[in-house]
Amino acid sequence: MQPARTEILSAVMPIVDQWRHEEGPLLPILNGILREFGYVPREVVPAIAEALNLSRAEVYGVVSFYHDYRENPPGRHVLKLCRAEACQSMGGDAIAERLQNLLGLKFGETAADGSVTLEPVYCLGLCACSPAAMLDGEVIGRLDDEKAREIAREVRA
Ligand code: FES
Repeated sequence: MQPARTEILSAVMPIVDQWRHEEGPLLPILNGILREFGYVPREVVPAIAEALNLSRAEVYGVVSFYHDYRENPPGRHVLKLCRAEACQSMGGDAIAERLQNLLGLKFGETAADGSVTLEPVYCLGLCACSPAAMLDGEVIGRLDDEKAREIAREVRA
C-alpha cells in the first residue's frame, strides 16, 4: 500500500532540508527520496519546487528524464534489461520480446501481483557479455532463452 500524502511529505522534508542550501541540490534530494521510498512520489514535486525556488515543470522535467526516478512503487523484484546498441546487436530485441511475453509486462510496468517491475536500461557496462540485464542489482550476461525462463521463474516464485 502506498503511504498517504502527509506521511510522504513528512518523510521527504528532512531530505529536502538536508540538501536545499547545497550547490545542485535537486539530484541529491531525488536520490534521497528514491532511497527512502524506492520511487519518487509525484506528490513531492510541488514541495521540492517551492523549497528550491524552481517551477514544478523544472522539477518534473528532471524526474521524468531519469529512468531510475520511477513514479510508482516498484515490484519486489526489479528487472532492468539493456536496450542499448551492443546488446541489441547480440539479439537483445528477441530477448526483450521473450521476457515481456514470459512476464506479461511491457517496459515500465509492474506485475499486478507486485512481484516484478520491468525497466529498460541503456548500457550496464557489460557489453562484452551482451545481451545483458540486471535483476535486483545483480548483473546477468549472455542472456538466452533458458536464462530468460529462469529469470521469469525466479521473479514469480
Ligand atoms: S550495451 Fe548493453 S551492456 Fe552495454
